[in-house]
Amino acid sequence: ISSKILIKGGTVVNADRQEVADVYVDDGVIVDVRPNIKVADGVRVVDATGKFVMPGGIDPHTHLAMEFMGTETIDNFFSGQAAALAGGTTMHIDFVIPVKGSLSKGYEAYVEKAKLSCMDYGFHMAITKWDDTVAKEMEIMVKEKGINSFKFFMAYKGSLMISDELLLEGLKKCKSLGALAMVHAENGDAVFEGQKRMIELGITGPEGHALSRPPVLEGEATARAIRLAAFVNAPLYIVHVMSIDAMEEIARAQKAGQNVIGEPVVSGLVLDDSVLWDPDFVTAAKFVMSPPIRALGHGKALQAALSTGILKLVGTDHCTFNSTQKSFGIDDFRKIPNGVNGLEERMHLVWDTMVESGQLSATDFVRVTSTECAKLFNIYPRKGAIRAGSDADIIIFNPNSTFHISANSHHSKSDTNVYDGRSGKGKVEVTIAGGKIVWENEELNVVPGSGKYISMPPFNYLYHGIDKADENYLTSLKAPVNRFNPSI
Ligand code: URP
Ligand code: ZN
Ligand code: ZN
Ligand code: ZN
Repeated sequence: ISSKILIKGGTVVNADRQEVADVYVDDGVIVDVRPNIKVADGVRVVDATGKFVMPGGIDPHTHLAMEFMGTETIDNFFSGQAAALAGGTTMHIDFVIPVKGSLSKGYEAYVEKAKLSCMDYGFHMAITKWDDTVAKEMEIMVKEKGINSFKFFMAYKGSLMISDELLLEGLKKCKSLGALAMVHAENGDAVFEGQKRMIELGITGPEGHALSRPPVLEGEATARAIRLAAFVNAPLYIVHVMSIDAMEEIARAQKAGQNVIGEPVVSGLVLDDSVLWDPDFVTAAKFVMSPPIRALGHGKALQAALSTGILKLVGTDHCTFNSTQKSFGIDDFRKIPNGVNGLEERMHLVWDTMVESGQLSATDFVRVTSTECAKLFNIYPRKGAIRAGSDADIIIFNPNSTFHISANSHHSKSDTNVYDGRSGKGKVEVTIAGGKIVWENEELNVVPGSGKYISMPPFNYLYHGIDKADENYLTSLKAPVNRFNPSI
């Protein structure tokens, strides 16, 4: 069958502009974008009149097939990605978790897990301990394995949590490698104390999760991470910003000229914590994630911050556990595996919440769901753009149709969905990934093993001009080969 597709008559939306144009795809790549493209007979033509043609979503934050809190997430690289494609996301970046502190063993394990992939993916890597071997392995990951970002957990005491000392070492190492440091910002020691207090008070249900780790602990850790990054003059990415407290620290640092990137997640933008008080255990427990879903005003403030550019790109933190797994914590909220879904729902919910409400334009939508992520992780414009030369990861979005979310019809393997029953305006009608139509007429057509690993080169630009010493480092860094824009 032909690998050529012509998308006709749609409004092509990129992060910087929109225009009516045709998009011609051949062999997995966009080869032409302009009005009235003529093609030979036999080329598949998809009519996009009255619809938006946009870059497929890129989710900067997922956990597929992750071993966590005594169990493993229910979505693996196939089911999670199938769900993503059905919702218009065509690439994600997943977090490699080291095996007993070994980065290379963790990497090998994730290479194995990712063999099920049906869409493109990249890796971040978590750092959970510190010694010379870890430092050396970080270098190998950046120089040989295509990983340009590392996550440090300031929470999860006793498992993933790291000390300030490690965070400082990590920040310095990231800086020397041209990699981006990411933090899960909650004060893990204080959370531990808060959890004990809740249990002593007899509050063992899911509401205890929220009460034990309030916004102030997220604000404290965010501020601390930002200040430590300032101390060593390194850029910093704050994952899953869930509270006003954290967002305001980011805004303050940005105002002072510091390079701090804030990532809200869909759950933090659209949900509120009332759900955690539901008397039915699983109904409440399915919403347990960290940092917790906050009171209503936090989500509204995060939306405003996304709309004004304080927060830059939207992730999901897709990390799914089914009812049985969530029930491990029926007697004690500390044992509820942390995480919620979002891969399939992100594009629809961001559109409905942010664009339909007038807080973002269509071009902004493309920026926060795709382009910003591609630029930040140094894979733009191969990803995150509808232009000649870019990968053919494309969605056709009908702004006049309606989406419906249901745990019965979603493509995640979980039996629950934190957005169950929601509907709203706009619908991803067609998803093209790697030049193939994988979602059309509500049907998925995906094959395990068809997804490609996207290697992400180190960033020089992130460090540009931050100080003299760095400039020397910069000039010594070999620029990544970029077939699209040799000037990057
Ligand atoms: O609850 C969450 N967020 N689970 C996934 C792990 C993490 O902290 O990102
Ligand atoms: Zn986290
Ligand atoms: Zn996460
Ligand atoms: Zn289906």
